[in-house]
Amino acid sequence: MIHLKPARILAIETSCDETAAAVLENGRALIASTVASQMDVHARYGGVFPEVASRQHVLSILPVVEQTLAKAHMTIQDMDAIAATRGPGLAGSLVVGLNAAKGLALGAGLPLIGVNHLEGHIYSAWVHEACDSPDPEPAFPLMALLVSGGHTELNLMNSHLDYQRLGATLDDAAGEAFDKVARLLGLSYPGGPSVQEAAEQGNPHAFKFPRAWLEGSWDFSFSGLKTAVLREVKQSENVGRPIPVTDMAASFQAAVVDVLFNKTMMAAREFKVKEIIVGGGVSANGALRRAFLGQKEFKVNIPPLQYCTDNAAMVAAAGYFRFVNGQQDDLDIDVLPTWPLS
Ligand code: KG4
Ligand code: ZN
Repeated sequence: MIHLKPARILAIETSCDETAAAVLENGRALIASTVASQMDVHARYGGVFPEVASRQHVLSILPVVEQTLAKAHMTIQDMDAIAATRGPGLAGSLVVGLNAAKGLALGAGLPLIGVNHLEGHIYSAWVHEACDSPDPEPAFPLMALLVSGGHTELNLMNSHLDYQRLGATLDDAAGEAFDKVARLLGLSYPGGPSVQEAAEQGNPHAFKFPRAWLEGSWDFSFSGLKTAVLREVKQSENVGRPIPVTDMAASFQAAVVDVLFNKTMMAAREFKVKEIIVGGGVSANGALRRAFLGQKEFKVNIPPLQYCTDNAAMVAAAGYFRFVNGQQDDLDIDVLPTWPLS
């Protein structure tokens, strides 16, 4: 049982291609948040170029921290702890944020807390703008669907910081499937938002794409779906017909949403949870949000769009619960690029 106490956390997130910092109070109230996206830099490569990402983080990290503290009208002395993403993610990117956090912690004499990025995505459900009155906190037990660019997992949480991984993807993550299908359809990077935009103009029933239900398990699989899209693209090319991009995007998105939504609902019923959390970049998807928010069986916590994709507010929230649970890391910790949540 965690004893909640007041605490103000400065958090840093640099696991992939966003340099982010945030100040959060008491695990929920967001005072300031900054996200410097490198999207434009990576767009020309059609994906994240790891070495370029690390070097962009080096350029941005201290300005982003300074801007965040300035927006909060605070200094580092006003903080109780410094949290930073320790993994999973790109090693060269993680190193920049974690080392910046170590320097700040050492300089200010504050505790350092290494946070799991996936835990951050789940704890984005606790974040609210400090100026807004908060919704009630997510209630345990709850089912957490984590859908990002690198991960797709269903976790049962019976209490804070406690994860029972029920299933995960056997191949591509949901976000990765969006990114790969965007490439097949000639849509721009990042794939998720561009597939969604194309899908809004298309017919989700135009193509009967496969759904891998993997009955009897809580795992997921998206590679067969991606192959089915590839097959249709090739067929269009072979007969010299333009690729029906919008219908294919809509049918692909419908297949992904169908499986993610229905398997999560089945798991929520089976484990008799009180609420559902959906987190990670793919939780920004409009069709997925409509599916979850359109049902009345379970209360669903999905973060506002700006806290679905990578940000530091979520790292601060997870960092707070770690902090009040007694976690304090040594200043010689390394990054953990493949760190599992459980
Ligand atoms: O959580 P995130 O920002 O980074 C990781 O931790 O991986 O997730 C990024 C992923 C990418 O694969 C991106 O294409 C996907 O989230 N994504 C979306 C949408 N916005 C971002 N996928 C579907 N629809 C969206 N609107
Ligand atoms: Zn992420």
